[in-house]
Amino acid sequence: MRFFAVVLLLLATSTVIAEVGKPPGTTLPFPPIPRAMSLGPNPHHLSAEACRECHQEIYNQWAGSMHAKSTALKDPIHEAFYRSEVGDPRREGERHNRSGTYPVCLKCHAPNAARDGKTKLDAMPAYSEGVNCLTCHLIKGYKGVLPDEPGGRLRLGIDAYEWSDILQSPTGKIFAQIDFPKPPPGSGAATPSFHPFAMEGNAAMLRSPQLCLGCHERRNNPHGVPLCNTGEEFRDSNHFNCQQCHMPVNHGFADHSMGGGHSPEMLRRGVVMTLAINREEGEIQAEVVLQNTLPHNMPTGAPFRNLYLQITAFDRNGMRLWQNYRHHPLREDPDSLFMLTLLDKEGKPSAPPQAVAQGSDTRLAPHERRILNYTLPATNVAMVRADLYYDLLSLPLKERFTAVPQELKQPTLVARSEKLVE
Ligand code: HEC
Ligand code: HEC
Ligand code: HEC
Ligand code: HEC
Ligand code: HEC
Repeated sequence: MRFFAVVLLLLATSTVIAEVGKPPGTTLPFPPIPRAMSLGPNPHHLSAEACRECHQEIYNQWAGSMHAKSTALKDPIHEAFYRSEVGDPRREGERHNRSGTYPVCLKCHAPNAARDGKTKLDAMPAYSEGVNCLTCHLIKGYKGVLPDEPGGRLRLGIDAYEWSDILQSPTGKIFAQIDFPKPPPGSGAATPSFHPFAMEGNAAMLRSPQLCLGCHERRNNPHGVPLCNTGEEFRDSNHFNCQQCHMPVNHGFADHSMGGGHSPEMLRRGVVMTLAINREEGEIQAEVVLQNTLPHNMPTGAPFRNLYLQITAFDRNGMRLWQNYRHHPLREDPDSLFMLTLLDKEGKPSAPPQAVAQGSDTRLAPHERRILNYTLPATNVAMVRADLYYDLLSLPLKERFTAVPQELKQPTLVARSEKLVE
């Protein structure tokens, strides 16, 4: 009796499967759906190495980006701040000095470790890799950074997102895991007929600024002073998305190099500078126009990023006759310095962790056109040059952080414009 019941049940289920799988009179547009490999109980423990073999070119782009170097183990500027605010990135149980709580930095700079509440970043590659493939490709939804009610806490980095346990893909295809007409970009590997790791389409997330904003929206210091604030600067430009500029299509797929302040090529595209000169009785009037082409500030991001303008007059032999400052515009020509200044309790310029207020903000606002005028002595002047420089660190921080390598303290020339004097 029992035997017959089992046979009947089996027969019944197989008919149902056959009917669902192949409706009468139609053929399926895709092969049988295989079971893709699960990512295991802790998908955020997977290293970027798991993707490297097939996604060689994307892996290399990511490996050269600041996302792969976002922890204190690999970014000397972050390390300098992390050591003074928190402690040793190789030790478990470290706490934020002032608040005594889990170091908030890791929620963005080492998100896979933060999801486990750990601080020993060399414990596994997924921690030391910082913002790795699994970080972004497991983001399923966005809760937002800003609190729902006034006075509420910001949801920073990992707290701003809903997490999936399978990969999220940028196409909207449900069956992204089986529909692969072409080999993976830049790989030598054979094309698998289905993706080795379970994946679902989530274009609404992967192609939206929200994917970035959990970490790039806004962050306050312990006194509630906004530090990095790219999302708020960008708020009125919602018709742009970050990926169009920061992940341009290159060789047929989204580039993962993610250029920003560390990339001279990217910086040069952010601002257009023109110089016009006019000679009048013993003087030269120079007019510099700076056009920010971006939907966020130039410079954006960390508050110590800064841009400054150098105006120089040369004689016929290339000798420098005049310049708008001798050492640095910070004290000598502040109008030529584009930077957010933070203030301490006495109203003096302060490093980000100690600041209690924002001071002047002379950065170029989104799409702003700024005109600056200079008056130069004309005697013997044969050429006028305008140079726009970018610095990752402010002058006082360069002096304070002696451990930061010299090459990161070198200004980058972003734009140059020259005019001969008739
Ligand atoms: C065995 C080879 C292989 C491995 C390993 C692999 N992939 Fe892929 N992946 C592919 C192929 C093939 C494609 C399809 C390429 C195309 O259509 O351009 C693809 C496509 C993708 C896509 C895009 C899907 C879409 O919407 O078009 C994403 C995202 C992706 N892989 C992420 C990953 C991540 C993250 C890892 C590591 C956890 C990984 N892959 C590991 C072979 C692989
Ligand atoms: C999980 C958090 C996180 C997510 C998600 C994220 N980022 Fe980042 N991003 C960071 C961190 C942290 C850094 C800084 C690394 C450093 O300099 O130490 C960074 C650095 C950058 C930089 C380089 C800045 C420089 O100094 O050169 C750019 C550009 C950037 N991100 C753009 C994006 C874009 C665009 C997206 C969305 C497609 C995105 N990020 C998603 C955390 C994140
Ligand atoms: C900072 C977040 C971030 C990180 C880190 C990241 N990705 Fe992506 N990836 C994206 C976004 C966003 C897209 C979709 C871009 C678009 O189509 O607008 C994408 C697209 C892709 C695609 C499809 C490319 C195409 O255009 O067909 C593949 C494949 C992929 N990622 C693999 C990887 C691998 C492998 C890694 C690690 C080596 C990685 N990603 C790291 C955010 C990220
Ligand atoms: C129109 C192109 C464009 C768009 C859109 C864009 N960016 Fe940028 N972004 C740039 C350029 C160019 C730079 C380099 C100049 C600078 O630092 O301001 C840059 C710089 C950055 C940096 C570097 C900051 C640092 O400290 O080094 C970050 C982070 C960043 N962008 C994030 C974003 C995010 C997040 C979005 C979306 C909300 C976005 N960007 C939208 C072009 C763009
Ligand atoms: C909400 C996410 C978030 C948190 C929390 C966060 N950061 Fe960042 N941090 C970023 C992003 C994104 C960047 C890179 C882009 C930029 O300049 O905005 C960055 C850049 C930096 C930089 C510049 C790195 C470089 O290469 O020049 C330093 C230093 C830094 N952060 C220190 C810290 C410290 C220390 C903490 C904890 C006290 C912390 N951050 C907390 C998101 C965060």
